[in-house]
Amino acid sequence: MNEAAREVDLDKLKGYAKHVFGMMSGATTSAMIYIGDRLGLFAAMAELGPVSSMELAEAKDLDERWVREWLYQQGAAGIVDVSDDEIFSLSPEAVAVLVNEDHPAFGAGTFAQLPAMISQLEHLPEIFATGRGVTYDSLGADGALALERGSAPWFKTFLLPVILPKIGLVERLEAGAKVADIGCGGGALTVLLAEAFPNSEFHGYDISNHALDRANHNVAAAGIMNATFHDAAVDPLPPSGDFDFIMAFDCLHDMADPRGVSKSIREAIADDGVWLITDIKARDTFAENVEKNPMAALMYGFSMLACLASATSEPDGEALGTLGFTRAVAEEIASEAGFSQFEEMNFRHPTNTFYVVQP
Ligand SMILES: C[S@@+](CC[C@H](N)C(=O)[O-])C[C@H]1O[C@@H](n2cnc3c(N)ncnc32)[C@H](O)[C@@H]1O
Repeated sequence: MNEAAREVDLDKLKGYAKHVFGMMSGATTSAMIYIGDRLGLFAAMAELGPVSSMELAEAKDLDERWVREWLYQQGAAGIVDVSDDEIFSLSPEAVAVLVNEDHPAFGAGTFAQLPAMISQLEHLPEIFATGRGVTYDSLGADGALALERGSAPWFKTFLLPVILPKIGLVERLEAGAKVADIGCGGGALTVLLAEAFPNSEFHGYDISNHALDRANHNVAAAGIMNATFHDAAVDPLPPSGDFDFIMAFDCLHDMADPRGVSKSIREAIADDGVWLITDIKARDTFAENVEKNPMAALMYGFSMLACLASATSEPDGEALGTLGFTRAVAEEIASEAGFSQFEEMNFRHPTNTFYVVQP
């Protein structure tokens, strides 16, 4: 045992242990938020209003003792409200975050990613040893669905109504434009825009088979003909020079070769085309990320469970990870790909940053 380990300050020890076990408490609470979402318990509480454990169990046809333990856990963690006579309810804010998939603050979709992400722990010892990660397909079909649920509310409530008008693309899309969604995941954005702009033609590209399955399911469910999905590994973005609008949402930091993809975007885009990059707001240093981003620990964790794993899934991957696509990196990659205009947009989003890039 080294010197530092022997000289333990008992007060500090107490504080430190509390901090560490607070993390475990967060992990188990997150797991139980996942269960509440999966079993429809939050949705039932939102519908029924204040309930006893028996009423909730009966409404969902579940075992009362287990529902009660779940309510106690969520109550102890401050996720649900509990009255003195053990009646449980959701605040309007809880309904926005945990139930309403049309609310910009909806977050239960992100909790839905947890089991798939935690299953990545199986791969991590080997990944740490070799440095070679795994693609998003390693998160399975449930992972692809959960990722989609995580971002779809944001597309509906922010991207379509707020951002597109601000970058002046609505008229062009209404008239009929050719659009690509790179790293489209389950196609939630592609399908949303294809429905909103029926005169335009949309192409989604991804390398995850599970994501492409979701995308093809979503386009069929929407019953639209103006959106097509492509496996970028075998049917990449063509160097056609005629795309009016190319989007890359929350995916460049995940790519093993973001420089190569950016070059192909340059070859595909029209001379007056617009490339909109949305990525995680990343600062130049670890210290700045920790100082300015209250979710920095969560993001470095997500990085190893998904983003950095994907960004190292090919030999010599760029390995940016969740907080690796800084403005400097974005500007350098865009310029190297042959783009001459690069503008950071101030859309005041808490976690994302936006760049409008043009030839
Ligand atoms: C975090 S997800 C974002 C998905 C979607 N844009 C969204 O916001 O919901 C990142 C996606 O990038 C995809 N991806 C990674 N490398 C890629 C590549 N080289 N070409 C296309 N897609 C890629 C992954 O498979 C994954 O679906």
